[in-house]
Amino acid sequence: MAEELIISKGSRQDAYECLLPQITALISDETNVIANLANVSAALRQSFNFFWVGFYVVDSETELVLGPFQGDIACTRIKKGQGVCGTAWKEEKTIIVPNVDEFPGHITCSSLSKSEIVVPIFVNNFVKYILDIDSHLLNDFNETDSVYLEQLAKIISKQC
Ligand code: SME
Repeated sequence: MAEELIISKGSRQDAYECLLPQITALISDETNVIANLANVSAALRQSFNFFWVGFYVVDSETELVLGPFQGDIACTRIKKGQGVCGTAWKEEKTIIVPNVDEFPGHITCSSLSKSEIVVPIFVNNFVKYILDIDSHLLNDFNETDSVYLEQLAKIISKQC
């Protein structure tokens, strides 16, 4: 297991290229889901200094529950179809929110969060986890993030 994270100082794409193999190595020898999701959130936050990085876990047919995360305290439960996370779960697709104030039903955990990306993680064709990343900057996420975070979702789904 890598003990020290190497962080690229290049573009965001360079940073993902540098990070994803390290995350693969970091979680490949561990089967405990909590440990792996905790380390993935820490690695993402360390690499990009995002405001909040974490996972919600499908807890029932209708509800997500907060999982491992890095950042300020957050809402514990989110219903299917509610907020960005619940919508990404229901629609089974990545959602980029350039300005959280303009997303109908956005659930505010901190007024410091300005933009957000949410990526569903599928296990056996069903959404099992939701990766949620918040930025303190407006419009901080684009297709580069969705492409690499969806690759990350596949890495996680094999190990969690
Ligand atoms: N903003 C999210 C809620 C989770 S927090 O941002 C950590 C949403 O609307 O689903």
